[in-house]
Amino acid sequence: MGLIFFLLIIAGLSVYIFFTNKKDVLVDMPSQNALYKNPKKTVDARVEDLLKRMTLKEKVGQMTLIEKKSISEEGDIPLYGIGGLLSGAGANPENNSPEGWFEMVSGFTEASKQSRLGIPILYGVDAVHGHTNVVGATIFPHAIGLGATGNADLVYKIARATAREIKATGVSWSFSPNLDLPQDIRWGRTYEAFGDDPVLAGTLGAAYVKGLEEVEDSKDKNDEEKVFILSTLKHYIGLGGMRWGTATNPEYRIDQGVTESSEELLRSVYLPPFREAVEAGAGSVMIGLNTWGDTKLAAQRYLVTDVLKGELGFDGIVVSDWYGVYEIPGSEYGASVIAINAGIDMVMVPFEYKSFTNNVISAVSRGDISMARIDDSVRRILRAKFRLGLFDESPTFDASVVGSKEHRTLAREAVSESLVLLKNEAEVLPLRDDVKHIRVAGSAADNIGQQSGAWTIEWQGVDGNWFPGTSILTGIKEIAGSDVRVEYSSDGVFENDLEYADVGIAVVGESPYAEGVGDRESPKLSAVDLAAIERLRWVSKKVVVILISGRPLIVGDALLNWDAVVAAWLPGSEGAGVADVLFGKKPFVGTLPLPWPARVRQVPITPDGRTQDGSNPLFPRYFGLTTD
Ligand code: GLC
Repeated sequence: MGLIFFLLIIAGLSVYIFFTNKKDVLVDMPSQNALYKNPKKTVDARVEDLLKRMTLKEKVGQMTLIEKKSISEEGDIPLYGIGGLLSGAGANPENNSPEGWFEMVSGFTEASKQSRLGIPILYGVDAVHGHTNVVGATIFPHAIGLGATGNADLVYKIARATAREIKATGVSWSFSPNLDLPQDIRWGRTYEAFGDDPVLAGTLGAAYVKGLEEVEDSKDKNDEEKVFILSTLKHYIGLGGMRWGTATNPEYRIDQGVTESSEELLRSVYLPPFREAVEAGAGSVMIGLNTWGDTKLAAQRYLVTDVLKGELGFDGIVVSDWYGVYEIPGSEYGASVIAINAGIDMVMVPFEYKSFTNNVISAVSRGDISMARIDDSVRRILRAKFRLGLFDESPTFDASVVGSKEHRTLAREAVSESLVLLKNEAEVLPLRDDVKHIRVAGSAADNIGQQSGAWTIEWQGVDGNWFPGTSILTGIKEIAGSDVRVEYSSDGVFENDLEYADVGIAVVGESPYAEGVGDRESPKLSAVDLAAIERLRWVSKKVVVILISGRPLIVGDALLNWDAVVAAWLPGSEGAGVADVLFGKKPFVGTLPLPWPARVRQVPITPDGRTQDGSNPLFPRYFGLTTD
């Protein structure tokens, strides 16, 4: 008897699934004057009208975010009703130019509009320091440098400029700003954050959100319903507080590790920046790849639904990060159910969209995911798309925006404001007018790729000067003027070494790295760089060391031999901004956005500034000498 009953259930479910899927073929094509197609209607009215027309398969398709290289054929986009595509860092078009990007994104968007209901895709990129997948884009300082400026108005302007460059290439969504709070400089993502101070992260994060989301057209300025570029607060929640050695990826050490913090600390330190940026109007929130307690963030229903959506009232899209959903222990089916029931609205699959959509359709049919949960996610996704104008406007390509002179001038200003003067013996800086002979050395002196860091054209960054920008050496030569002799030798070896230069400038530091690839046991200068500095010291009356790095470096006693030290972080394409300050055209105003440890055993340094061994950091948060 039981077997018969079970078979009847299975048969009934199969029929239900068949007609649910079959419905796509049988249901009507919407008329041209369907309410949701009318831009004069309110966003909510359009969402509800469209939602009620959608089949389960179409709804689940909208919750699917895939990496553009995962598309096996463009026809799958309308066939599966894919809601979003992304370019993972480095997933560029063959023709990696602003035009090439516009063509690529437009092609995917047009494909999506061929679906029965014509719902356009969201297209997302990691524009974390400019629209920097694109060759020719303005490359702004990475967030840690913006944290050193502490200047919310500047950050707003940088986000505005970034949004314009994103929009000009047809892209609608940026996975920025980063609100992580790095406490352990061994973490490879330290530079992606504004610093370890939750107050600073909240202020700058909110400014960045407004810079991305606010519409340009004054007539729409006060229209709450309109969004220019969708922002993303990442990564929710507790990133920066992971414990060394807890990374799940065996090639990493701390990235994607276990955040050790009480709920009280999570609420008092990590949550406030998200609250402030949600109140600023953030359009989406990305869930971190870390673990809190014994549960992956993607499975944390309490933090995602009760706290983020409930207490903070977040009404935008909650999106998972990369492969994070499938890192939830268990089957792919089970992981998808857990993540969506935890409150994730859009799953960055990012590869196997066919199995993902089939799993979720089955889960709804079996009652493992409620239709109400699906509808909540789809409403959030459609609301973003209507607010972005994706149904009503077709983006037009404007070559003049990407990498414009105006944006590069802004980036150069940001570089100048981001520099932190850590030491200045005998006020060697700014360089005086009687400095007529300068020697420059170091691996990072003439390398726009190195000074830009990762998330630049490629995930792990690029090397050299083959793309638009100004190296620090070029900037020094430009600003020094014709009456100053500037020599350069990367290794610090100079021919006429019996003659002392007035000043030696060593530009040294880290090569680009992203995510866990940058996890380092002890972040410090290479032996090659230290040797170059030593050689420079022997042929210069004074030595200035410029540190190019994604984080504070352990410098040890070497610092004692350097007359001046400048933390320049990862300045991006406009290296001349460093020379502007070295030569006194701009003052040093930057301050450390996080403490600078003296020794590795001091980290992690807690948000209230306590080191692990009770000793003082080399420089405290917000240290910075000034020159005026
Ligand atoms: C990465 C990062 C995240 C980024 C995403 C898409 O794994 O964790 O910051 O936005 O993938 O590229």
